[in-house]
Amino acid sequence: MHRRPPPMLTLTVAAALAWGTAVSYAPLARAQAPSGKIKVGFMLPYTGTYAALGTAIENGFRLYVHEQGGRLGGREVEYFKVDDESDPAKAPENASRLVKRDQVDVVVGTVHSGVQMGIVKVVKETNTLLIIPNAGVDEATGPLCGPNIFRSSFSNWQPGYAMGQVVASRGLKRVVTLTWKYAAGEQSVKGFKEAFESRGGKVVKELSLPFPNVEFQAQITEIASLKPDAVFVFFAGGGAVKFVRDWAAAGLKDKIPLFASGFLTDGTLEAQGAAAQGLETTLHYADGLTNARDKAFRLEYAKAYKLQPDVYAVQGYDAAQLLAAGATAVKGDMTRKADVYKAMEAARVDSPRGAFTLSRAHNPVQDFYLRKVDGRENKVGGVAVRALADPARGCRL
Ligand code: BEZ
Repeated sequence: MHRRPPPMLTLTVAAALAWGTAVSYAPLARAQAPSGKIKVGFMLPYTGTYAALGTAIENGFRLYVHEQGGRLGGREVEYFKVDDESDPAKAPENASRLVKRDQVDVVVGTVHSGVQMGIVKVVKETNTLLIIPNAGVDEATGPLCGPNIFRSSFSNWQPGYAMGQVVASRGLKRVVTLTWKYAAGEQSVKGFKEAFESRGGKVVKELSLPFPNVEFQAQITEIASLKPDAVFVFFAGGGAVKFVRDWAAAGLKDKIPLFASGFLTDGTLEAQGAAAQGLETTLHYADGLTNARDKAFRLEYAKAYKLQPDVYAVQGYDAAQLLAAGATAVKGDMTRKADVYKAMEAARVDSPRGAFTLSRAHNPVQDFYLRKVDGRENKVGGVAVRALADPARGCRL
C-alpha cells in the first residue's frame, strides 16, 4: 500500500521542478489542511502466551477512538496490524513493515520487552512516533529514550520496586526470586531487589527459566528446599496461569508467602480459580477503584466486548488518549512531529487507573496499588507507593 500525495501537492511539486525551483515538501504539506486518515500500526502479540494481552490492548485503544466518533484531531483513524508473536528475532522486520510499507503515523506496540527493543531501533532510525502500550523494558525510557518514544504503561523497574517496599515492610528477610530469563523478569527482580535490600532484606537466590517455558517443577522443588521467608515472581499471560496452578498443586500456597508484580493475576483469574485466591501483587491498576473515569470505562468496555477490562485494556485506552493529545494539538496534521511530541509530553491523561503525567523520559508517573485476589477480582487494598517515577537512568532528552 503506497501513500499517494494529494493531487494538489503533486501538481505544485511538478510545477516547481519544471521551473527549477528548490522543492521543500514540509511547508507545502503544511499549507494544506491535513487530509486522509491517521494511520495507526498495531504491533502486538496475537498468538502465543501473550495473545490475550495484545487483544486487550487493541480493544482498549479502539474503544477510546470509538468514543471520539472514530476521529482524532479531526481525522478518521485507520488501523494496520502485525502479529509480533512475542518473537524478538522478527521484531525489526515486523516494525519496518508497518513503518515503511504501510507508512503508519504511529506504531502502537508492544507487550514483550525483547520485541520492544527491535521496535525502538526502527522508530529511532525513522523518527516515527511510538507509543508503548505495555512492554516495560527499562532501556526504552532509559538510555534509549527519545523525543518520539512514549509509554502508556510502566517500566519493568516500577512494579518490582513497589513490591520490594511492601515485602520489606512485612519484616520478611530472606527472599527467593523466580522469573522468565529475559528483560521483563530480570528488570522486575532488579527493581524488587533495590527496594527490598535497601530496607534490610536479602535476595538469597535468583532462579529463572527461558521464556516462554512453563515447566516450573525443578524451580518449585528448589524453592521448597530453600525454605525462604517469601518468594517474588514475574510471570504474565498463559504462563502466569500455569505457574499459579502449579504452585498451589505443589502444596506451597499456604506454606511460603508468594508475591509478584500484578501481571501474575491480571486477566488470568478465571483460569487460575482457587489457586490464586489471596495472592497479593502490586500494579498501577486494580479492581475496586472509585474514580468516575474507571467506572465509565469499565461499563463501556464490558458493553463493547462482553468482557471485564484488565490492566492491558487500560494501557491500550491510554495509548489512544496520549495520541489524541498530540493529534488534537496539531488539528490532525501529524507531519508536525515536534508539536505532536510537545503536546504529548505535556498531557495529563485522565486514565481509569487515576490521572497521570509523563516523566521527562516519557514514562507514566503513577500510583502503585497493593491488590489482593478475591474471587475474580484483584481488589485494591491501598496505595503501596504514590506517584512512583522510574529513575530513567541514562536518559538524555
Ligand atoms: C514485558 O515483556 O515487558 C512484559 C510482558 C508481559 C507483562 C508485563 C511485561
